[in-house]
Amino acid sequence: MKLAILADIHGNLPALEAVLAALEQIQPDYVVVNGDLINGAPFSVEVVDRICSLDWVVLRGNHEFYLLNLGTSRSIPGSEDPTRWGQLHWLAARMRPEQVAYLAMLPDERTLYLPGTQPIRITHGLPGRNKVGLHPAQSDEEIAAALGEVHEQTFVTAHTHVQMDRHVVSRPALTGELSAHPHGDMQMPVAPRAWHVINPGSVGLPLNQRPTAQFAVLEAAPKADAPGGWRVRHFDVAYDRRPVLDAFKTSGMLAAGGVFSTLFYWEVVTAAPEIIYFYRWAYERGMDPDRDGLEATFERYAVESGRRDFVRLHDPLCNGATG
Ligand SMILES: [Fe+2]
Repeated sequence: MKLAILADIHGNLPALEAVLAALEQIQPDYVVVNGDLINGAPFSVEVVDRICSLDWVVLRGNHEFYLLNLGTSRSIPGSEDPTRWGQLHWLAARMRPEQVAYLAMLPDERTLYLPGTQPIRITHGLPGRNKVGLHPAQSDEEIAAALGEVHEQTFVTAHTHVQMDRHVVSRPALTGELSAHPHGDMQMPVAPRAWHVINPGSVGLPLNQRPTAQFAVLEAAPKADAPGGWRVRHFDVAYDRRPVLDAFKTSGMLAAGGVFSTLFYWEVVTAAPEIIYFYRWAYERGMDPDRDGLEATFERYAVESGRRDFVRLHDPLCNGATG
């Protein structure tokens, strides 16, 4: 049994097409898309059309909610500001009503009980929290604390755009039990809990410094060979990024989206967390881009940090590279 997991396509149709070509070779039994189909790169409309046409299991991510919540009482405060949220407004003006309805009715999580295999719990971030993910830099203790309510051993997440294949075991500390019951009422320590945490990485906007289209294939395996019953193989598919980078400009999204569209462009170029880099740089200098002026702060950052020059150096549209 082979299960392909895709996530965080973020409107990058050329990256999705590269993955579709790879899946032709792999021939998985099922394909799951774990949220964030849209927003980021300019082909969200085309990505939703393509995915709707396939017999795949599709879940919703936080970027679907940004669109669905826009203009409602659920929207993020300030999301009517076209300077900060111009890219989302540009997208909302282009998504067809039936596409929005499709996203509106997607589930937020699934648990798969495929015959002869162990259950797999899948959600974009954490259950009930689609804007909180798990990152390889986190300790086992942090991950175990976040997964307290996840009772399935195999847990598939996404959201951080960084591939992960990690076995986490949580052994409850005995000291707490002893100090709570010094003279009796001793209880057997709770049994250790274990999770197999899997992040397929991002198809369209990877943030692990490798500018490829990334996904994962899970293959059922005996529990004796693979704790949790699933073995993971991660894939990096090289593709020509020039068409998607070019479309940032030709589609009009870059002009409409301003600083944030520029930062998403940079993320396609560098596969690094450019939005986080920008905010961190500003905060370290006592600035808040959302308070002090997004465009002015970004202009200072782009020049003073040297980041704009770095991006240009690696931009396939600037240096003629094809990767
Ligand atoms: Fe995402």
